[in-house]
Amino acid sequence: MPANPICVALDTPDLDRAVALARSLKPHAGYMKVGMEFFYAHGIQGYAEVAGVGLPIFLDLKLHDIPNTVASAMKSLMRLEPKPAIVNVHATGGLDMMKAAADAVAGQANLIAVTVLTSLSDDDIWAAGFETAKDTQTHARALAELSQRAGLDGVVCSPHDLTGIRHDLGRDFLTVVPGIRPADAATQDQKRVATPAEAMASGADILVVGRAITGSADPARAAQDILAGLHAG
Ligand code: C5P
Repeated sequence: MPANPICVALDTPDLDRAVALARSLKPHAGYMKVGMEFFYAHGIQGYAEVAGVGLPIFLDLKLHDIPNTVASAMKSLMRLEPKPAIVNVHATGGLDMMKAAADAVAGQANLIAVTVLTSLSDDDIWAAGFETAKDTQTHARALAELSQRAGLDGVVCSPHDLTGIRHDLGRDFLTVVPGIRPADAATQDQKRVATPAEAMASGADILVVGRAITGSADPARAAQDILAGLHAG
C-alpha cells in the first residue's frame, strides 16, 4: 500500500488530459482511479497509457451482474497489463456474485465492493426499493459485512459509514472512501461528504478525490494542499 492515501479520480473522456493529469499528479498521489467515463472511451489501450505513468490503478468499473458474467468480466480485467491494484463490484449484486468475483480475481488484485453510493441519501435508498433499511449507514454496514463474508478485501463507502464499518469489520478491512471535499468546496452531486482529515480520522485507508483536484486551476497544488492538511492534522 502506498503511504500517500490520495487516489485521484481521472474522470475525463480525454486521453491526453488523463495522461497529463496522471503525470503531473504522480508525485502527489498514491493511486490513480480509472472509471467508466475514461474506460468506456479509451478501453484497454487508454488504460495502459494511464497505468504506464507508474502509479497503482484503482479500476473503478463497479461490476453488477449475475455471478457467471461478473466472474468472466473479472477474468478479462485480470488480463490487463499492468494489472490494476484494486477492482470492484457492487455489493448489492449479492453474496454469490461477490464470491464468484473473488474466485476470478484470485488474489491478483484487491477486490472491494461498493456499499451505498456517496451520492445517495436515506430517502434515495428508500425510493430505490430498500424500504426496510433503517438508513444509509445501517445499510452500508450490512453490505460491508456481506462483502467480508464473500471473501473480499474491503469496501467503497462514504466517510459517514466508516465508524460503523470499522467497528464491525476491524482495522484490516480496506476502506476506500469517495465523497471527499475540502472544507470550502461545493458538494456537487455528492450527498454524504467529509473533509480529507475527517475521513482519515474516521479510519479511511484511501481517499478518492476527483473534481476537488482535477477541476482546480492547479491540480498538483490542490493535491499538495490536501496532503499538507492531512499531515498538519
Ligand atoms: O469528483 P468527485 O470527488 O465527487 O469524484 C468521486 C469519484 O468517486 C467518482 O469517480 C465516482 O465515480 C467515484 N465514486 C463515488 N461514490 C462511490 C463510489 C465511487 O463517488 N460510492
